[in-house]
Amino acid sequence: MSAVTELEIRRPDDWHLHLRAGAMLDGITPSTTADFARAIIMPNLVPPVVTTADAEAYRTRIMAAVPQGDTFEPLMTLYLTGVTDPDDVAAGAASGLIKALKLYPAGATTNSESGIRDIETAYPVLERMSEIGLPLCMHGEVTDPDIDIFDREAVFIDRVLIPLRARFPDLRIVMEHVTSRQGVDYVRSQEKNLGATLTVHHLIINRNAYLVGGIKPHFYCLPVAKRETHRLALREAATSGDSRFFLGTDSAPHADPAKESACGCAGIFTAPTAMSCLAHVFEQENALDKLEAFVSLNGPAYYGLPVNEERLRLVRGEAPLEWPKRVSTGAGPVTVFDPGFPLFWRVEKGAKG
Ligand code: DOR
Ligand code: ZN
Repeated sequence: MSAVTELEIRRPDDWHLHLRAGAMLDGITPSTTADFARAIIMPNLVPPVVTTADAEAYRTRIMAAVPQGDTFEPLMTLYLTGVTDPDDVAAGAASGLIKALKLYPAGATTNSESGIRDIETAYPVLERMSEIGLPLCMHGEVTDPDIDIFDREAVFIDRVLIPLRARFPDLRIVMEHVTSRQGVDYVRSQEKNLGATLTVHHLIINRNAYLVGGIKPHFYCLPVAKRETHRLALREAATSGDSRFFLGTDSAPHADPAKESACGCAGIFTAPTAMSCLAHVFEQENALDKLEAFVSLNGPAYYGLPVNEERLRLVRGEAPLEWPKRVSTGAGPVTVFDPGFPLFWRVEKGAKG
């Protein structure tokens, strides 16, 4: 059988994306809109996107950053706080603007200070979300100082997620950026109301990437990449075709000085080469026929949205792809994720639609 060198799929979506604000937003948005039709937009701005009115204003700002000629629909989320108003959430969802809420345990990651300290404070909102079928996206890590950072996800499942699902069985949950074998196994064990996003970088790097040979801040993100056995579990899940798993890049740009610092920010900017990296991974796993499910079909099915009608063509070239190592923005340069191997798959420009 001859090797596949061309692939046409429905245009993909990114079910977890950080677009930031201001000059950073303007600088990095084109990296996503070139390839992706829609994205779930994370609300962890400063100040966070808390109300439907905040999300409306943010959506307008995002649309102004989309280059002419690209079609892109931002799927807006609200940042769940202890004082989120269930009526506002329901109104935002009914209007079609709000597609999910995001739960950050306070202190878990970038701009999570306004997040949840006591989950019971969110019960009235979660109750309403269960009733109306609005998904909850979760940053699934505990923040207890006595829990090792490599165990934060597994402990979250036992201490927070399992009890929460028992209390709200009808709540539709997305476990964001699953990074562990325990996470994959838990999602697989659940028949309904649980989906999971997987990032590009967690399919490619393990913890050696940021710790061996010196501290490598451009491979530091949260949840941290774990040991190899976990990476292999994630690859198996992504390439299996299992509809509970779909792409959420968690592409999370920070200007280089903020990462190359004594206390560097968490976040990896993968948007520019996300599709090339994924085609590479799926090819390595002999699963190019499952790529469309992961990037274009499973996500819309879970969110109850139509699939995209536009197409995207991927072509495997003979020579390694050249891509910019850095994207310059008005907020400073942002280093692009380096997968550590040459990329051969490119998105054929002009082949959309
Ligand atoms: O690495 C990360 N960066 N993980 C997150 O959860 C947040 C994100 C960010 O906003 O920079
Ligand atoms: Zn994120």
